[in-house]
Amino acid sequence: MKSDYVEHHLQEKRHFPPPYSETAYIRNQKQYEEMYSRSLSDPDEFWLEMSNSLEWIREPEVAGKFLWSTEKNEIKHTWFEDGVLNVSANCLDRHLEHRSRQAAIVWQGDEDKNWQIIDYETLHKEVCRFANVLKTFNIKKGDRVCLYMPMVPELAIAMLACARIGAIHSVVFGGFSAESLSHRIEDSGCKLLVTANEGIRGGKKIPLKQIVDAALPASPSIESVIVLRRTVEPCSMKSGRDYWYHEYMDKAATECEPEPMEAEDPLFILYTSGSTGKPKGVVHTQAGYLLHASLSHRTIFDIQKDDIYWCTADLGWVTGHSYVVYGPLANGTTTLMFEGIPTYPDPGRCWQVVEKHRVTKFYTAPTAIRTLISHGESWPKKYDTSSLKLLGTVGEPINPETWMWYYEVIGKGKTPVVDTWWQTETGGILISPMPYCHTLKPGSAIKPFFGVEPIILREDGTECDIDEGGSLCIKKPWPGMMRTTWGNHQAFIDTYFSTYKDVYFTGDGARKDEEGDYWLLGRIDDVVNISGHRLGTAEIESALVEHEAVAEAAVVPVPDEVKGQGLYAFVTLVDTAESSHEITIELIMLLKREIGPIADMKYIQYTPRLPKTRSGKIMRRVLRKIAENDLENIGDISTLAEPELVKTLYQQRKNNEPILR
Ligand code: WTA
Repeated sequence: MKSDYVEHHLQEKRHFPPPYSETAYIRNQKQYEEMYSRSLSDPDEFWLEMSNSLEWIREPEVAGKFLWSTEKNEIKHTWFEDGVLNVSANCLDRHLEHRSRQAAIVWQGDEDKNWQIIDYETLHKEVCRFANVLKTFNIKKGDRVCLYMPMVPELAIAMLACARIGAIHSVVFGGFSAESLSHRIEDSGCKLLVTANEGIRGGKKIPLKQIVDAALPASPSIESVIVLRRTVEPCSMKSGRDYWYHEYMDKAATECEPEPMEAEDPLFILYTSGSTGKPKGVVHTQAGYLLHASLSHRTIFDIQKDDIYWCTADLGWVTGHSYVVYGPLANGTTTLMFEGIPTYPDPGRCWQVVEKHRVTKFYTAPTAIRTLISHGESWPKKYDTSSLKLLGTVGEPINPETWMWYYEVIGKGKTPVVDTWWQTETGGILISPMPYCHTLKPGSAIKPFFGVEPIILREDGTECDIDEGGSLCIKKPWPGMMRTTWGNHQAFIDTYFSTYKDVYFTGDGARKDEEGDYWLLGRIDDVVNISGHRLGTAEIESALVEHEAVAEAAVVPVPDEVKGQGLYAFVTLVDTAESSHEITIELIMLLKREIGPIADMKYIQYTPRLPKTRSGKIMRRVLRKIAENDLENIGDISTLAEPELVKTLYQQRKNNEPILR
């Protein structure tokens, strides 16, 4: 029986068959299906074969081992547990023989004139140097090191240097507040902190060292701070605690033996962005993680020798870890690291960078694409983006209209678009098309990656039918899956394994269509229940964005006496449009047409921008409180990119600006 746990109403029927590529890793459906079914039917053989792409100090003889029992309260999985390797040696040393002079990192600074190419040989030396500096500070295998830095090569160097000596890094995005920083430092007991005097982004300066100084009184585990001089601006240096990066690097030797690491030793901790509740320290280990990141990067982005690959994510997020640093470098790719933002100095920036560095593969978030759409097509048209061969997205459901713009305006209808679904917890991509193999459908993440067995469940734990929306879960572990939450394994079990029995609960809603393709419906707790119909907000937002005047929309529930809940929409218009009664009526009609008569909007609030976390995710709990006119229980908004925006939204709400129907 259909439970209608999450209903879906959008009917998207456009199909785009894949282009042919002679050199693609995965060339056709048959090849994908053969590999995929082998990865499920004989995972040990499959993954041991795949693990040959890594360089081992001791090759593993066992692949996956696991016990997932909700009843016994035991959740454990390991991969290649008898194997020994070093992640930094996999990302650097093994490329020295054939590509020492090839660019490993192309760094493009916030100002166009600041850029740098670092070849594999130089990167190797810098990483060894910093690894030696870490040793000088008495950092050993298993110690935690916090990296609170701007998007500069030294951050990637610090990550790889930790990996080289077996220290566990915890990167904290360089936009978090002192409080968020000290919470993360203390949770994992970091001994050392690496930071910079300042960061620069979008022409603005971020006083990183000042924030560190404010955080440290509440972070007693930190013994020393290494400070990179990113700008000429002076900063306070506490004697006996704070040390300059360059002073130590200048003296450090350029050779450092990589530490042999057990496959299951932790590689890093990364705190989830916390758009819901308290951040959790997600723990990833060495071999399984690196194999998942590199194999998915190689096959999904179809990485070839001459690629210039650019993922716009900050290294403070998992996308930066897996698809700017570890995946690309393990594959010997040239990875572009970008310090800036897509709209500085103007909304043509991304395309200007693509033209300048001849970028071939480009990976970004739907929120960035929607922002660029709102500034119009003239920006991408100014630049020569003909080097692009493949486009990717990650971070949120991409609505079909945004997908189409990306495909047509940026990709000229020729380059595949891979919509990749995954999470900090999953380590790497779990659902995505293979670009030269699968037929693309705007808004669908298409097929599971090797070894990934999704199942969509109803609230009562039974499996959904075709085209019925439910909770997306994964039946068995895959190599890149998180192992635990730092210091609290029970929290890991409670968060991910208690909602359903013996499967990993992703927290996202999804449906599978009759061709076996997956459609993500947003977070399962972002649902609006109207007269017993549970509607995923992602679809409603998708429908609203189809209107040419709408740049972005977020929908939350408000109490409704008759229907239980009603729809409250926050809408941002494109640059050239102004809010009007006509647009409101058009939007109401649009929802009725696209979603159905139940999608009856109660309120529309036009807003200059939407409140987002620093990783670009809309913070819905804040919008819910605004919709409910509940200023008191707004909760922590320190992780918002623009906390001041909340005031504007409240003011509008108080002045009854939202249109009530
Ligand atoms: C959402 C980012 C739909 C989803 C890698 C997930 C997506 C959360 C997609 C994880 C996508 C990510 N389609 N939704 N292609 N990619 N999400 O941990 O809700 O920052 O659970 O990891 O982002 O966000 P996180």
